Amino acid sequence: MELRPTKEQEAIRDLARRFAATEVRQAVAAMERDKRFPQELFARLKELGLTGIPVPQAWGGRGADFVSYTMAVHELSKESAALGVILSVHTSVATLPILRYGTDEQRERFVRPLAGGALLGAFALTEPWAGSDAGSIRTSAVRNGDEYVLNGTKTFITNAGAADLYVVFAVTDPSRGTRGITAFVVGKDAEGFKIGPNEKKMGLHGSQTCCIVLDNVRLPAEQRLGEEGQGFSIAMGSLDGGRIGIAAQSLGIAEAALGLMCEAALPKADGSKARRAVPVGAPQAELAYWIEHVEAARLFVYRAAALRQEGKPCTKEASMVKLLASDTAVGAAGAAVRTLGGSTRPAGQTAARLFRDAKVTQIYEGTNEIHRIVISGQLMKKGGV
Ligand code: CAA
Repeated sequence: MELRPTKEQEAIRDLARRFAATEVRQAVAAMERDKRFPQELFARLKELGLTGIPVPQAWGGRGADFVSYTMAVHELSKESAALGVILSVHTSVATLPILRYGTDEQRERFVRPLAGGALLGAFALTEPWAGSDAGSIRTSAVRNGDEYVLNGTKTFITNAGAADLYVVFAVTDPSRGTRGITAFVVGKDAEGFKIGPNEKKMGLHGSQTCCIVLDNVRLPAEQRLGEEGQGFSIAMGSLDGGRIGIAAQSLGIAEAALGLMCEAALPKADGSKARRAVPVGAPQAELAYWIEHVEAARLFVYRAAALRQEGKPCTKEASMVKLLASDTAVGAAGAAVRTLGGSTRPAGQTAARLFRDAKVTQIYEGTNEIHRIVISGQLMKKGGV
């Protein structure tokens, strides 16, 4: 298997890395303080051509591949996991499902502005009573002539409030279980579409998360995505890609945590002794342990991204890499907090932020408990490893 990046992948990785290490790094303190969506950074992603990386140029994207997109999420997340998830959700579970399952009219109307960064996307599946068991959603869509009428509530929707377009899942036939769920593209200006307040979260303060209420939202039938009853499959198929993005985000967090630990542990460049007396709780063995895990996660993230790019089935790999990378992010960030010993200095504050940002990677886009079920289910389906 070829592990060396192509010239195009390298160029996108370096572009994202430079942007992250300069403009994003400078913006993080304000994102933490103000707890608001970084509109100006999304505008810069648009200018840099990073809002539609794996979307063909014919539909307004950059025409690069899924690996390049994964690299961008990874690089951005080293500086801001919030910006990482904003781009991940916008691309992999909002833009790409419309590209993949939409009609040419829908690609023209929705994918082109999403990929070009004129619009921001979001994905609305979770409900107050249906998180892990996504097949139990209750939002309804009733056909009435040439339109559908949607009613229901969605919760914990990343990018909500800031987003212009939402891929929304609703039940069109309650008698058919997961086969009775249908996907729709809903614009923020639809009458009856209401956004709740920004959730107060423990981390990812620059990423906006709100609930959505659909109160008799009337949607023209041409805003249905795919066929009636295809929605659950669209959601799951899109999450296969989404989870690789979350793994890349987790990898960025874990690498940032490792960077802090190394800085605290290593001697200065001039060979003099370490910058500070390190081991409050992070002996070299712990550092080595997390370096191993980060390396494993990095290899796996790019293997899963390459599978996705090739269009091969990757449900099991997406769950496995999301599980591995998110546990690594939480573990490495926790070790960084211990290493920095609760310092109020900037490095200690960064470690605390990484730890707060890392936690949700074990929860969203399927909890890690759900991923264990998916992995074992996939193995059983296949009859073994
Ligand atoms: N791709 C395509 N289709 C798939 C699929 C996949 N990866 N996985 C399942 N399906 C299809 C199945 O083939 C099946 O189709 P048929 O009925 O035609 O045979 C159908 O979906 C039902 O499959 P299951 O019986 O396996 O479904 P289930 O009800 O047992 O649920 C589950 C499976 C894995 C638990 C699922 O409910 C799940 O993934 N839950 C977690 C939900 C989740 O990840 N939510 C994330 C919200 S978005 C978010 O978090 C974004 C953010 O903020 C960052």
